[in-house]
Amino acid sequence: MQLNGKVALITGASEGIGAACAAEFARAGARLSLTARSEAGLRAASNAAGTADALLTPGDLTSAETRSAVVERTLERFGAVDILINNAGAGLYLPSWSAPLDEVRRLMELNFFALLGMTQLVVPHMRERRSGTIVNVGSIAGKVPLPWLTVYSASKYAVGALTEGLRMELRRDGVRTMIVCPGYVRTAFQQHARGGSPPAAMLNARRFRITAETCAAAIRRGVERDARTVVTPRTGWLFILAMRLFPGFVESRMAALHQST
Ligand SMILES: NC(=O)c1ccc[n+]([C@@H]2O[C@H](COP(=O)([O-])OP(=O)(O)OC[C@H]3O[C@@H](n4cnc5c(N)ncnc54)[C@H](OP(=O)(O)O)[C@@H]3O)[C@@H](O)[C@H]2O)c1
Repeated sequence: MQLNGKVALITGASEGIGAACAAEFARAGARLSLTARSEAGLRAASNAAGTADALLTPGDLTSAETRSAVVERTLERFGAVDILINNAGAGLYLPSWSAPLDEVRRLMELNFFALLGMTQLVVPHMRERRSGTIVNVGSIAGKVPLPWLTVYSASKYAVGALTEGLRMELRRDGVRTMIVCPGYVRTAFQQHARGGSPPAAMLNARRFRITAETCAAAIRRGVERDARTVVTPRTGWLFILAMRLFPGFVESRMAALHQST
């Protein structure tokens, strides 16, 4: 899809990968509808993106009212949603066997149900126009389970399965879906995690982080070439392949990293 003049609705756009996507898509000529809880963050992201006409809808996406408001306002303002980037999400570094279930449900509400809720509001409109792309920001953790983020990985596996199933459901409707699997991205994701902390080995791996801008550029290129899956950085594919070919070995290495906490 070429992006000039297209309408991109981006969730979690107040900072991190979402804000970087706002700037990246604006540079490509897209019109923006941005949402997250922080109004100040949305304003800053919109200013940084250099767009005069970005639509900002602050609110908590786990609420059905916020989701309806974002989509209705976008359609009212721009008359279309060409690209939905379901990016809002959070982590949880607690062991799955002891994490309070309420906390796990809260995580699933944001990482999975809010994303599905947004998708359900936007897809009928895209089907009617026989055009559109749903971009779901998953994670490399949705391809290889990370033992320090087991519950988060489960939420991202769910997002991956949803993205691929949805693609087949909509095959004849002109609506595409794309799953994005970032590795370690330099954002405040770890500070915003809902509980626990990453193992020491992960903190030491900071030098492997990519920037949110690099991630956003990969997402933009993926949308432009109608990709099904974007893994960024691309070396992440080696990790995915290693897990497929040598699961026992990769699991033992990951467990060792986890125990380095
Ligand atoms: N950073 C990484 O290493 C990494 C790696 C793989 C995948 N990812 C995925 O990338 C996505 C973006 O993460 P990030 O690294 O950019 O994290 P981030 O800097 O913490 O940004 C998260 C965004 O989500 C929004 N958000 C959080 N809770 C929300 C809620 N209840 N309602 C509406 N918006 C909410 C936040 O805005 P407000 O606080 O203003 O609401 C913020 O804009 C997530 O889905 C994450 O799982 C990140």
